Amino acid sequence: MKKILLINFCLAILFFGITGCAVKTEEETPEIVRRQAAGVEDELLHIGLIQTGKESGWRDANTNDYLNTFIKERGYDLIYIDGNSSPERQVKAMQDLIQQKVDYIILQPIVETGWEEAVNQANEEGIPVIVADRQIAVDKEKYVAWTGSDFYEEGRKAVDWLETYLIEEGRQKEDLNIVLLEGNKGATATTGRTSGLRDGIKNHSNWNIIASECANFTQGEAQTVMEQILTKVYPSEIDVVIAENDNMMFGAMKAMERKEISFGPEGDIITISFDALGDAFSKMVSGELHASIECNPLLASSVENIIQDLEDGKQIKGKCFYIEENVYDYKNASQHIKERTY
Ligand code: AHR
Repeated sequence: MKKILLINFCLAILFFGITGCAVKTEEETPEIVRRQAAGVEDELLHIGLIQTGKESGWRDANTNDYLNTFIKERGYDLIYIDGNSSPERQVKAMQDLIQQKVDYIILQPIVETGWEEAVNQANEEGIPVIVADRQIAVDKEKYVAWTGSDFYEEGRKAVDWLETYLIEEGRQKEDLNIVLLEGNKGATATTGRTSGLRDGIKNHSNWNIIASECANFTQGEAQTVMEQILTKVYPSEIDVVIAENDNMMFGAMKAMERKEISFGPEGDIITISFDALGDAFSKMVSGELHASIECNPLLASSVENIIQDLEDGKQIKGKCFYIEENVYDYKNASQHIKERTY
């Protein structure tokens, strides 16, 4: 028989602050009622993970991190559901997990909207929802906590890196034409990075975004989108390509290679992306990529800490838990490439 802890999640959510990510709450985390997962009799914690899909190398690293953390030997039964890049499928997955009466739901949403009803249902059934990676547009008291990246800050870091680079190169007064490849619409990773980038870019009257297109965080779509952009814009007019993840940059690079356009520190176009995957490090070392702003996919231990605190009846201090991230570029990549595990 699985251990039965008395935790009253419905009461718990009433005690959480609703005023935003940075707010820490001093109230005690109330107990949650633990139910037996439907038809399951064991000592394990039954955890449903709703993943976005398999759109990127970042996503693979993130999924593997959960699969390696929430294992039977550590007391967990992880039910992994691939959202297959479909927000509707993700909502349905949450409803299925509620029916299965899992102990916790880890939600990694594709988009922020459309969650109200499903999260309400989880609340009614007393199943704690922990949101990770991107965020959801639902009252904050309805989920236990969120953990992930400060996407807006990532966008600002990209601009800061570009400013410093141009000053070092003595190019700060030049007019700069920027092509921006964005992630999927409605995702916090897209809206945050895009706002951070645009807010930074508008401080420079000589910087211009000449094309801004969605490529859904995938390499294939980015290659197609970049090929289309190159039919409308002369390569000599492009000074910078910013892709909101590494995979989209790899796709854009393929499109540029096909047209024999040189890019990266060894070429003509400045290239900046996000995630800092191992493959991005290789491209920084080989002189194809200028910089990659890290987005840390290793979120499982942060989620596990939240779950374990709830299991121990401890107070969860805070609502949002930001993960630490760095900036890497072609100058420091060789020092760090060996540390990269994904
Ligand atoms: O939400 C995180 C973003 O989603 C990563 O930057 C991207 O690679 C992923 O698909």
